[in-house]
Amino acid sequence: MTYFECFVMDDTAHVDLSTLVDLGALSKYIGQEVSVAGWITRQHAPGSKLMFIDLFDGTGSIQLVIKGAMVKPYRKLLFEQTCVSARGQVEADSRSLSGFCMQLERVQIVGPGSGEFTKLFNSDSDSLTKMQQRHNLIRDPTTGQAQILRLRASLEGRIYRWFEEQGWIKVSPPAIVTGQCEGGATLFPLAIKPDYFGKPAYLTQSSQFYLETVVPAFKRVWCLEKSFRAEPHCDTPRHLCEYTHLEGELGFCDLVGLMEHLTSLVCAIADFKPDQFAQVTYRQALELLNRDQREQGTDVEYSFGLDLTDSMERRLMELYPDKVQLLFVTHYPKALKSFYMKPDPADPEQVLCCDLLLRGVGEVVGASVREDQLEPLIERMKAEGLDLDSYAYYLDLRRFGSCPHAGYGLGLERLIKYLGERAGLTVRSVRECCLYPRSTGRAYQ
Ligand code: 4AD
Repeated sequence: MTYFECFVMDDTAHVDLSTLVDLGALSKYIGQEVSVAGWITRQHAPGSKLMFIDLFDGTGSIQLVIKGAMVKPYRKLLFEQTCVSARGQVEADSRSLSGFCMQLERVQIVGPGSGEFTKLFNSDSDSLTKMQQRHNLIRDPTTGQAQILRLRASLEGRIYRWFEEQGWIKVSPPAIVTGQCEGGATLFPLAIKPDYFGKPAYLTQSSQFYLETVVPAFKRVWCLEKSFRAEPHCDTPRHLCEYTHLEGELGFCDLVGLMEHLTSLVCAIADFKPDQFAQVTYRQALELLNRDQREQGTDVEYSFGLDLTDSMERRLMELYPDKVQLLFVTHYPKALKSFYMKPDPADPEQVLCCDLLLRGVGEVVGASVREDQLEPLIERMKAEGLDLDSYAYYLDLRRFGSCPHAGYGLGLERLIKYLGERAGLTVRSVRECCLYPRSTGRAYQ
């Protein structure tokens, strides 16, 4: 056998390590020969005739043992992340994590590696190095990054299944747009010269307006698409320039119905219970925060119109019992929110909206009842200096059989950060909750 012969599938079936280990099925192979393939995550040779290797194949791990004369040549060839195919006998081994190991009779190097891999990063590396090395980090199971992505994949699956069960229709709105949804400050211009079919173009901030257009076609509609924000402060643990946005729009829905829907959604996809939710109006939230300030002996007084900062949101959440993990804050001042939100008929200075705050993360959902009347909408758009022609399609909705409707956007990476931490993983930032984050610009892959 040469060390570098081509990789050919062995006659012995290759088994996924997860099926062996997770199902405890390895015991049925004890004494038998099996063939496995994967990447070395650790190798250790305590003596000249004994070598231990942890092999990971993307589904699970197993300990391999090389004994005798084979050790000498392989010591110089097997490094962390070398890809190997191995064949050997399964044995019970109480010292190995899985309770099993494989005594190797044959090792084939599928993809050679080198000792350089371990020098690329370590757990103490700074965050920029970790981002620049992210492609190498993810494949190393000891970093926990693949586990976060695994959790994300499972969450996405649950979201799809839940909406399908509920009879919602999924659409895929475009990412290139010609107008804003969430204010000009975070609009991402596309550098197409001179422009896009005669108009400036941007990457979408939200698919909301397109979802609204299909409410008369489907009544309840959702999407899971990318949204883009040219965030000025993208180094925070909760901001990305490109994030995954779960958005939904419900025909014939008011604020109460919207919050009921959001509660069912979040409980179904993320295993929360309704008693982990609480609800407060913006005005009540200010009162709670002001009372807290007085109790702290400060003379700070928050008044109507002030936006809740990250630290205010965090403090607000702390004022609730630990059981409360999610807090709806409703009825924000109109001046703080987007032009499409419907003013509260009981107090037109506030809008029919709710933000959902998640303990330890902050705002995870932004939601509102939409302005469904043409004239007030046009007035708000003019006040914002928006070019009405670019939104003709949006206004048509109010021209032809408008209906009361409401909708929301949930930042998937923020939810994943929470769920990762709840599952015991270390998740420093939403940047670790997507494959290759677009954030600071310095660490793009
Ligand atoms: O509150 P936002 O800006 O709402 C909208 O975009 C609405 N048009 C959505 C809708 O009603 N269809 O954003 C919604 C959520 C936020 O609550 C947050 O979770 C997430 O999107 N989000 C971000 N996540 C990561 N990085 C960013 N820069 C984000 N900006 C918003």
